[in-house]
Amino acid sequence: MAVNLKGRSLLSLADFTPFEIKYLVDLAADLKAKKRAGIRGKLLAGKNIALIFEKPSTRTRCAFTVACNDEGAFPEYLNKDDIQLGHKEDVKDTARVLGRMFDGIEFRGFKQSVVEELAKYSGVPVWNGLTDSDHPTQALADLLTLQENFGKLKGLNLVYLGDGRNNMSNALMLACAKMNINYTVSAPRELEPDADLIKKCEAIIAENSNKNFIKVINEPKEAVKAADAVYTDVWVSMGEEAKKHERYELLRPWQVNAELMNIALNSNDNCIFMHCLPAVKGAEVTEEVFEAHYSRVFDEAENRMHTIKAVMAATL
Ligand code: CP
Ligand code: NVA
Repeated sequence: MAVNLKGRSLLSLADFTPFEIKYLVDLAADLKAKKRAGIRGKLLAGKNIALIFEKPSTRTRCAFTVACNDEGAFPEYLNKDDIQLGHKEDVKDTARVLGRMFDGIEFRGFKQSVVEELAKYSGVPVWNGLTDSDHPTQALADLLTLQENFGKLKGLNLVYLGDGRNNMSNALMLACAKMNINYTVSAPRELEPDADLIKKCEAIIAENSNKNFIKVINEPKEAVKAADAVYTDVWVSMGEEAKKHERYELLRPWQVNAELMNIALNSNDNCIFMHCLPAVKGAEVTEEVFEAHYSRVFDEAENRMHTIKAVMAATL
């Protein structure tokens, strides 16, 4: 079956079939091997790419920029303070203006509805570089990292600990549902994933006639048993800074530390640790785990670039 993603936006992995997702991961692996071999292409030659950022970013911004530079495109960084969007101009008008000039638009910000509106009105592919509710390009990089480690995706056990209702957990749940990976979230009751998202993911699993599961297990020591990968993210996401004190009180038992990793490693020697970064060491993860031989956090970071390159190449 041929895959043609030309003209498509990536707003959420929910909109992509398992076959399309696998295609993007494999294309990224191929582009990574080529870059390692010193081969640069012209997959994006002459394309102009707008990079809109309402929130800060290191990895996502750099991944888009380097991917553009590698393949002959011209990235333009548009910080929220420098453009009219959200001040004088609405999303619909900004979308139509940028769509007349650029070949593709990356958006990082607060509301998922904004990235959807940009896609609706710009007439060019729009890529979600993180919103309050989703982070699909990070989930793609994580799929590539899992595939590199285990040589497969199907049947793996990914266990996520911490804020179970944030963008990262949502994106991973969707990615796992699509790719036949078992997904366990361990979070306090107050931060459990949205019940509707779990239902949506279960429907995706049924639709693909798979048997993987989505589970919520509050008790962290129970959750990490048999994990192939233990994943965590910050306890306070961008935009939620006022909740810092409350979150740190609540989430302390979900810290990924050596004790917790030893439980996982005792049941599976090959278990790895993952984090989308940036990490707050001493909070959601200890320095010891972050730096351990089983930590794959910098592979994930590097893979942001290869997967984002694949997404742009496939959709432009
Ligand atoms: N993981 C990630 O999205 O990192 P940045 O916030 O640095 O882009
Ligand atoms: N959940 C985090 C992810 C950062 C990449 C945040 O939104 O801040």
